[in-house]
Amino acid sequence: MSSLITPSILSADFANLESELHAIGTADYAHVDVMDNHFVPNLTLGLPVFERLAQVSPVPLDAHLMIADPDRWAPAYAEAGAASVTFHAEAAAAPVRLARELRRLGARASMALRPATPVEPYVDLLAELDMLLIMTVEPGFGGQSFIEGTLPKIRRARQAVSAAGLDVWIQVDGGVSRETIERAADAGANVFVAGSAVYGAEDVPQEIATLRALADG
Ligand code: DX5
Ligand code: ZN
Repeated sequence: MSSLITPSILSADFANLESELHAIGTADYAHVDVMDNHFVPNLTLGLPVFERLAQVSPVPLDAHLMIADPDRWAPAYAEAGAASVTFHAEAAAAPVRLARELRRLGARASMALRPATPVEPYVDLLAELDMLLIMTVEPGFGGQSFIEGTLPKIRRARQAVSAAGLDVWIQVDGGVSRETIERAADAGANVFVAGSAVYGAEDVPQEIATLRALADG
């Protein structure tokens, strides 16, 4: 399974999002961090901006919803054109129903776990998901350091997916860079969000290629 690179536009220039999406045209997805200042202590963008991004983006959008009440809001992101919609397990009231609704709307259904949230209670839910996001920093801000203690959890998630014979992608988000991506890949991740590492690079397409090569090992 080859690795997918999903740069986070949280580290892009918010005054020029269309050109910033074109700058990552060689990536597999563009990761869009939606924060509501309730689920996380930060505020980014919401549905009206997301809808326009979906219309102009040359790459499919991967919506990461760090919001309260995703049961109410997440389907609208699928309707707006997200290729993948990630809600947080800690925030969803009815994750199975929500995942089914996202798939019905044609999006990949994905669920995220904060660093302190264990995988084990959610193993039975994996069959409803296309992707599991293991947060490798506390959600809310870009530019934080990769939490090495999440590696065993990535490994357990990969083992659970394999044991169930499923094709669920495992995404990591937070502190992913040239320094950390190989360890995350070795642990079993195959989809890599990188914000500051990509948009902070001198040569953005080169950085995407380098990260992909390192992850592919
Ligand atoms: C953090 C966001 C991340 C963030 C990652 O809450 O979910 O997607 O943009 O940024 P870096 O790669 O800089 O850690
Ligand atoms: Zn994110």
